[in-house]
Parts: sequence; C-alpha cells; structure tokens
Amino acid sequence: MLNVSNVHAGYGDLKVLFDVSIDLQDGEVVSLVGSNGAGKTTLLRAISGLIPVTSGEITWYDKSMTKMPAYKIPELGIAHIPQGRGILSTLSIRDNLLLGGYIKSARAMREERMEYVLGLFPILRKRINLLAGTLSGGQQQMLAIARALMMNPKLLILDEPSLGLAPIIVDEVFNIIKRVSKEEGVSILLIEQNLLQALSASDRGYVLETGQIVMSGSSDELFANKDIKKAYLGI
Ligand SMILES: Nc1ncnc2c1ncn2[C@@H]1O[C@H](COP(=O)(O)OP(=O)(O)OP(=O)(O)O)[C@@H](O)[C@H]1O
Ligand SMILES: [Mg+2]
Repeated sequence: MLNVSNVHAGYGDLKVLFDVSIDLQDGEVVSLVGSNGAGKTTLLRAISGLIPVTSGEITWYDKSMTKMPAYKIPELGIAHIPQGRGILSTLSIRDNLLLGGYIKSARAMREERMEYVLGLFPILRKRINLLAGTLSGGQQQMLAIARALMMNPKLLILDEPSLGLAPIIVDEVFNIIKRVSKEEGVSILLIEQNLLQALSASDRGYVLETGQIVMSGSSDELFANKDIKKAYLGI
C-alpha cells in the first residue's frame, strides 16, 4: 500500500534522511525503530506532506503522493498520530473525537465510529464530556488513537505512543494497537525508540540510524540479531 523509495529530506540546509526506503502491505504492522534524533519523526513528516521530499518517491497504492499537500493525506486513508499526541486539551473528549471524523469520507459514519472507539476505550466513554486536558498521559494517548480511528483509516501511523508512559500503560496501549490491527484490518506503522515493545507488536521492522535504514527484517529476525541485541538491549 505505502512505498517509500530512496527518499532524501530534511529542514532547509540540514539533511536528515538519506536514501530511505520502506514499504508496508495491507494489514501489516511494521515498526520503525531508532534512537533519539535518528530521523523517525522526519520520515513521518515527509510521508504526511509536512516537509518536502528532496529526492525519491512516495507512493500510495502505486500512485505518487510525493508532492501531495498535508491536508489531502487523510483523505487517502492515512491517519498520523504525531509525537506528543496532538490532542486539544481545552476541548472535550467528545469534540476531540468528532474532529477526528471531520474528513468527507468519514463524516457520514461519525456516530458509528464513535460507538466503535468508545467500545475500545471505555474510559473515554465515562469521561466523554470532560476536557481532554484532564486525562492522564496514558488516557490522552488512547484518545489520540481513538481520534485517529474516527476517520476509519487504512493506515495508522503512530509516532512514539509509549513516550512518557508508565510500563503498565505502555502494555495496554500496545495491546490496543494489536487489537485494532486484527479487528479492523488497519495497517500500522509504529515509530518507537522502545525496540523490544515495538517488535513484539509488529510483523516486521526497520532500524533507522542517523537518517539511514541500517537493518530490516521480520520481528523475529531482528530480535535474534546480535548487533541489535548489543545496541538496543545491552546484551
Ligand atoms: N523542525 C526542525 N527544524 C530543524 N531541524 C529539525 C527539526 N525537527 C527535527 N530536526 C532535526 O532533525 C534530526 C532528526 O530529528 P527527528 O525528530 O526526526 O528524530 P527522531 O528519530 O524522531 O527522534 P526522537 O526519538 O527523539 O523523536 C535531529 O537532528 C533534529 O535536531
Ligand atoms: Mg521523533
């Protein structure tokens, strides 16, 4: 479905991504792991049309989306949950969810989608009229996921959903991610520094280091890799 091929991108004179190629098939959960500053968020911004691609190509079902403006990307069925979640803390949980379903293709199904996401996250139903800012960090991450699901996406991109969350909450968030991929058949691109968690929730993974893909393979292959064990797990 998504194909990123030989992409270079950055910020003005600062080059961040070098010849990055990744692909994602229907229904897959794929991780992109890498340490601080590797360029993970930058790659997401390039995919989501938030920064220009200097060279290379990004396609969605074989059609170029390399130069597509950011506002058109959700209409393709790509939902991007930004690092830091991007929920609107001064709006109610309900209004945050309704905003997630604003795109044309999702508007008609808003009520149905609302029921589905509230079923996934009962805590949000309980607090539906409260301001989003009153939620805990873990609950805000759930709201961010729920809001993205409101648009019934084909692909969900999550940028470090585990950031700043207690381990037990991280487990909960990853379980939800696995459940959504299974139940809805939505493809997931999971960006994480937390390699162990990310790979255990995914089919395949890519490792990004200083703007380059240095390794890729099935999650089992990556788990078994000696270099990965040394670099990320300290064993
Ligand atoms: N808006 C920006 N303007 C200029 N440089 C930026 C900008 N955002 C990121 N960078 C730089 O680009 C490089 C890659 O940053 P990026 O945020 O993509 O890393 P990351 O892999 O997402 O890291 P983290 O895991 O900490 O989120 C870093 O050197 C960073 O300083
Ligand atoms: Mg980042």
